[in-house]
Amino acid sequence: MTAVSTYAPLVTLSEKQQTISYQEIYPEQRSEPTFANPNVQEEIRPQLGRATQRALLLKAAREQYTLVTDHAIPSISNKDEILVKVLQSVFQGWTCRAFNFGIPSLPWVNGRDLAGVVVKADRSSRVQEGDIVLVPSTDYRDIRKAAFQEYAIATHFNAARIPPTQSIHASASLGVAYVASALALGVSLGLDFSHASACPGPDLTEVVRQLDTDTIPADIRDECYSGLSKIEKVKPGDWIAIWGASTTTGYITLQLAKLAGLKVICVADIARHGARLVDLGADALVDRHDTQRAVDIIKGLTKGKLRYAIDIVGKDTATLLQQTLDDAVREDGSHAHLLGLTGLPKDRGSNVIYHTVPIKLFHTSPQVGERMVSWLEDLLHSGALQLPEIIRTDGGLGNVNASLELLRQGTASGKRIVVDLAG
Ligand SMILES: NC(=O)c1ccc[n+]([C@@H]2O[C@H](COP(=O)([O-])OP(=O)(O)OC[C@H]3O[C@@H](n4cnc5c(N)ncnc54)[C@H](OP(=O)(O)O)[C@@H]3O)[C@@H](O)[C@H]2O)c1
Repeated sequence: MTAVSTYAPLVTLSEKQQTISYQEIYPEQRSEPTFANPNVQEEIRPQLGRATQRALLLKAAREQYTLVTDHAIPSISNKDEILVKVLQSVFQGWTCRAFNFGIPSLPWVNGRDLAGVVVKADRSSRVQEGDIVLVPSTDYRDIRKAAFQEYAIATHFNAARIPPTQSIHASASLGVAYVASALALGVSLGLDFSHASACPGPDLTEVVRQLDTDTIPADIRDECYSGLSKIEKVKPGDWIAIWGASTTTGYITLQLAKLAGLKVICVADIARHGARLVDLGADALVDRHDTQRAVDIIKGLTKGKLRYAIDIVGKDTATLLQQTLDDAVREDGSHAHLLGLTGLPKDRGSNVIYHTVPIKLFHTSPQVGERMVSWLEDLLHSGALQLPEIIRTDGGLGNVNASLELLRQGTASGKRIVVDLAG
């Protein structure tokens, strides 16, 4: 049976980081390195003593993961890429849903969040060998970047250094939730994080404005430019409602929104999650169980004038959230905005602007990626961001199917399961 316990930091976090020995895992000479790009510089070639590693393979849809020991260690293909020895892989709700869909081909390696030590990086890289980093791996079509393996590729502009004062395990679980939250608020809704007085961040709309249009993937271009309009942007003092505020992504969205001066209504199971949401700065709590009452409360709180909402649960709750919005076009020509992280309503209002998060901007734009991870480093360093609650498991990749079963059963509600690969 899998040993699972709620994570309690019994040792100081700096001690925790010291227990990870860079020397122990530094790779040795690799006999036959393979590279996707033959022009790769000599300095950035991974020098590994072996060519294969342990990885969790999904061999067929709807099957359990299989632990294999002969999966190829991924190769660096350009100067922007780094090789990370994975210390922690993170399992979240959608990892187990990925059993069934969203897999580019089979067999496949999944896993979107990891923390590890950089074992190979070009000298020009923003992170260096030996750095402990967290990596939100949003580029799910690149199997080399998956988290459920011992070594993973990342780009240096997608890796954030974890300060010694922070837990590596909890930091590992921040990744994709942070990226989704920051892009949803900062790009789609145009929130300027430079107003975040406790820890000023980027104005991502300005970063986007300066990008060469052709470098933005065509399918997310409109979404990336949607936050540029001055009249449509969400501003400090505006209300925003988050349905699914107790999800890991919701906790981060709430915190980033509060840092930048928004007033936040959180829809969640208040008996279960209310205390934490208050701690994180929620301005109003609305219980999720009586949905029509929840809609009425949000309308009452905002006097029917709500203009911004984010759903983190699904199409049905996005449809409910849509009912809370003031969908009249204002005199200045501005609209109400609804962003769905997991789905949008089927029947839509003609005056509401609908958004999906342009997640791939993080890994396709070095400028955006770098600004986001730099701010994440500042947030971690300053302690301005409270980290997600996690459940920590030992036993490495071999225990993963049992961990995923916990997620499927709902035992780990709203928490990430962090699997230790170190040691
Ligand atoms: N598009 C993207 O790029 C992107 C990126 C990040 C996340 N997402 C999506 O965002 C969603 C959340 O992910 P996550 O990992 O942050 O979630 P999570 O941490 O696993 O949180 C799940 C929580 O949602 C709450 N919940 C369930 N039904 C709800 C409802 N009807 N109303 C309000 N809350 C409800 C549950 O809390 P209780 O049962 O305790 O109330 C549950 O604990 C996922 O569907 C994920 O796919 C998408």
